Amino acid sequence: MTVCEYKPGLENIPATQSSISYVDGQRGVLEYRGIRIDELAQQSTFLETAYLLIWGGLPTKQELGDFEHQIRYHRRLKYRIRDMMKCFPESGHPMDALQACAAALGLFYSRRALDNPAYIQAAVVRLLAKIPTMVAAFQLMRKGNDPVQPRDDLDYSANFLYMLNEREPDPLAARVFDICLTLHAEHTINASTFSAMVTASTLTDPYAVVASAVGTLAGPLHGGANEEVIAMLEDIGSVENVRPYIEDRIQHKSKIMGFGHRIYKVKDPRATILQGLAEQLFDKFGQDAYYEIALELEQMVTEKLGHKGVYPNVDFYSGLVYRKLGIPTDLFTPVFAIARVAGWLAHWKEQLGENRIFRPTQIYTGPHNQPYIPISERPQLWEQHANGL
Ligand code: ACO
Repeated sequence: MTVCEYKPGLENIPATQSSISYVDGQRGVLEYRGIRIDELAQQSTFLETAYLLIWGGLPTKQELGDFEHQIRYHRRLKYRIRDMMKCFPESGHPMDALQACAAALGLFYSRRALDNPAYIQAAVVRLLAKIPTMVAAFQLMRKGNDPVQPRDDLDYSANFLYMLNEREPDPLAARVFDICLTLHAEHTINASTFSAMVTASTLTDPYAVVASAVGTLAGPLHGGANEEVIAMLEDIGSVENVRPYIEDRIQHKSKIMGFGHRIYKVKDPRATILQGLAEQLFDKFGQDAYYEIALELEQMVTEKLGHKGVYPNVDFYSGLVYRKLGIPTDLFTPVFAIARVAGWLAHWKEQLGENRIFRPTQIYTGPHNQPYIPISERPQLWEQHANGL
């Protein structure tokens, strides 16, 4: 058997062959199915991009119309799912609520006809349609309100903002939000996508695939970083505090949220587009006090850590955009999930095409041939574990 070098975090180890997206981390290029992200952000919509990612090509007018129509039709939630959500604690994190709801869909639509294209299509439509309704419904329910029903006359993004804020959004806000979804829809084999692929490789149902990916996206080193960025800007509080903050983080070898990426060694192209979107919103709806701090932070991190390839990632400016759209901070990651469902489903479908169950190996570092110690003679370990020793 060939013994491979162990790479923590599987850095640079290919986990699959994929034709869905491509990143050039040195040049700051991201493509979905060969089309550059800036072009999609400018010209496409989220649903058209989702179609592109999942089915492999841009849809004709009729195909897009049918896809949008089906998604509109499936936006509503079964009352049992809404009832289940009412039992969730208000203080629970919306990502946990979303993970539970995504998994619960499997209770209603669990037939695993993975070799039936109609089943695949129905699952794609249901997940894309219902995830935004779940996120908006949990937001209203935790405030003690009834969820707002989706509106069939509104497109995907406008409808989400409507369900969330209980009023029709400004057209610029809806368009900006739609671009945000496009930007977050897919990004090669990141942690949550890998998680989706591993789950998919067992041939379980697509709701379990998405639930597992939602759980992975929630972590602060992945999708959860966008929330942490706002907490950090809040902590810093003023432009003058940026330098001491950065110096302290660097001295203590702590990560600065919203910076750095396993693949990008230049500014993430999505961060550049998001920054532009934030500025469009500020021009129309007023400045955000944190923007000045963010600009200073970017400049200083670039100065201090640019030589290590540490630049703003997608999470750095997205929070400022979402704040302007009236999205609460702890919904930033669920909003990320709304978008990334498209990428997860694309990888799920690709995985099914040439599936082999994931079963990596390990390098065992423990002892062998240990004696079985009688219970009366064992040292006390429990308390040491509890104290983190
Ligand atoms: N702040 C300070 N230093 C950093 C940062 C950062 N945010 N990111 C990387 N570095 C430094 C590391 O300390 C390391 O320095 P060293 O070589 O002197 O030890 C070097 O840059 C390489 O960084 P690694 O941690 O090895 O990079 P890795 O690829 O393992 O981690 C990650 C990437 C997890 C994204 C990391 O940059 C990070 O924790 N960033 C902050 C959290 C964040 O913003 N996550 C969102 C990422 S985008 C997304 O998931 C959607």
